[in-house]
Amino acid sequence: MELPFAEPYRIKMVESIRCSTREEREKWIREAGYNLFNLRSSQVFIDLLTDSGTGAMSDKQWSEMMLGDESYAGASSYYKLKAAIKDILGFDHFLPTHQGRAAENVLFSVLVKEGDVVPGNSHFDTTKGHIEFRKATAIDCTIDEAFNTTIDHPFKGNVDLNKLEDVLKSHSREQVPMIIITVTCNSSGGQPVSLANIKAVKQLALKYDVPVIFDSARFAENAYFIKTREEGQQDRSIREIVSEMYSYADGMTMSSKKDAIVNIGGFIALRDQELFRQASVFNIMFEGFLTYGGLAGRDLNAMAQGLYEGTEFDYLKSRVGQVALLGQKLTGYGVPVQMPYGGHAIFVDAGRILVNLPKEQFRAQTLAVELYLEAGIRGVEIGAILADRDPVTRENRYPALELLRLAIPRRTYTNDHINYVAVAMGNVYERRHQITTGYAIEEEAPILRHFTVKLSKI
Ligand code: F0G
Repeated sequence: MELPFAEPYRIKMVESIRCSTREEREKWIREAGYNLFNLRSSQVFIDLLTDSGTGAMSDKQWSEMMLGDESYAGASSYYKLKAAIKDILGFDHFLPTHQGRAAENVLFSVLVKEGDVVPGNSHFDTTKGHIEFRKATAIDCTIDEAFNTTIDHPFKGNVDLNKLEDVLKSHSREQVPMIIITVTCNSSGGQPVSLANIKAVKQLALKYDVPVIFDSARFAENAYFIKTREEGQQDRSIREIVSEMYSYADGMTMSSKKDAIVNIGGFIALRDQELFRQASVFNIMFEGFLTYGGLAGRDLNAMAQGLYEGTEFDYLKSRVGQVALLGQKLTGYGVPVQMPYGGHAIFVDAGRILVNLPKEQFRAQTLAVELYLEAGIRGVEIGAILADRDPVTRENRYPALELLRLAIPRRTYTNDHINYVAVAMGNVYERRHQITTGYAIEEEAPILRHFTVKLSKI
């Protein structure tokens, strides 16, 4: 028999979690204003809210924590991370930041001004938030296939080159400070961008003289999909693919809480020294001195080690494989999910489950609450609440898809947990026709409202 694949690690430390009763959950979710962000973690059994900062660090990363150099300036930890970034991603200049959105804040403070447009593939919500906060516009140029969950396209994160060229043609060079490629594309379901597409975007960018910045949170998972799905890439290593991907980037922002497998951290990496100098000013103002950027030396060390571990093929195979296992089980129960399965999460198509619920009553949020009530599982809404109001008209924006994201933390849950989640979702799906009412907004913030929104049951 051919031997099956198994995780390239074993468990050295465990954390207890507790399953609550339905009565407890009914009370807690009501008190939380039907917003899963407002729950205490102790009120959650399996937490699939995010894969961000929730992974398990390795023994080597914990060892690196002990070796952290906490000097204010010039710490060895800074140089260790700088060497790892040069080695894996190829950039000479880098600025540490406390997380991904901080990297966006610093870099966009240099690049983005009022009236600008920033084309890209389904910008993540903080990225869009930082663009709109500066009175600029994020223009989504993702391929149309991404918005139909039933189409099985290997690279649903791809940029539609015609949409992108239309934006570049219809604006002056000064109005387009950059093109952002998000790898993998979180908002469309953790879907990858092909190497061919990245290269083609870069060629177009060169023609119009616009820099290309990668939003890189899950760059290693993207490289894994290139290796396993793109023709001609099978025999290359993950690091070779990463290296080619980034040869087409002028810079990157990174949330290290994902593919660098740390609990906190991020960075900006750049090719251009002048842009680096300008960004440095904002980094010192917002984050901290250039060699620590809002982090402890130990965080920088763990991040450097995590960049190496996160770009190992066997690790990525088990990671992406566990996500696919959840996808397969859900599909087996008839639950519609974004196809093909993404890198970090399964996106359940709430729009196709709660078909009779008006979109004004927030289908994906309703499904998220039902899954919590069913089994204490916390997912997150990727739908109309997350989409915020239009900054100009203040009308609710209803995106093409209403999704419930079940994000899998790295190296954290076992396949028994995955099975539990799948059965719970299957049960909710079974009784979908009984779910006929949703939620109304009681209180909301003007931007990024999903974090703090308060809802009432209709
Ligand atoms: N870009 C992408 C593609 C992301 O997914 C995230 C965060 C960020 C930027 C911002 O990074 O959280 O370190 O400030 N995504 C998390 C998520 C929050 O749950 O998907 P951050």
